[in-house]
Amino acid sequence: MPLSQESIDICKATAPVLTEHGEAITVKMYEILFANYPETRVLFGEAPENQHKILAGAIVAYASNIDNLDALGSAVEKMAKRHVQTNVKPKHYPMVGESLLQAIKEVLGDSATDDVINAWKEAYFFLGDILIARETELYAQA
Ligand code: HEM
Repeated sequence: MPLSQESIDICKATAPVLTEHGEAITVKMYEILFANYPETRVLFGEAPENQHKILAGAIVAYASNIDNLDALGSAVEKMAKRHVQTNVKPKHYPMVGESLLQAIKEVLGDSATDDVINAWKEAYFFLGDILIARETELYAQA
């Protein structure tokens, strides 16, 4: 499903504030993810100490290019390859999505209105579907 123009507009408008709090949001996201879905911890076994900075960077890059997904092409390929190496599967996407949205709510507080959360939800799963499709191809080739 294509991203709605409304969601694109909201994501672009809120990208700067997410950038500003990117690291806090990602740290919180891992806290929530590992508390609610401890089975995901093993996937990050070899993760570098700065993993949360990498993910924060990806969110920001996505936010900045939400209406120009071609610019994300090589980043998508890199993420998909790493996800396949670490055995990330489609079932994990809702776990990370839920944790990320919860983290955005907690860090942004009142500025995380329902409209903002819904726009990011749409955007997260839009990118998630692109990654899942590429990862499914890579798993099939392996
Ligand atoms: C839209 C959703 C997602 C985005 C934007 C994203 C982004 C990224 C990025 C940028 C990297 C680093 C790639 C590299 O340069 O090596 C990465 C690695 C990784 N991601 Fe994701 N990811 C997403 C979903 C998920 C999900 C659902 C999981 C499952 C829990 C996951 C688990 C991992 C793991 C285990 C690594 C490798 C860490 C390491 O050992 O280096 N990601 N992801």
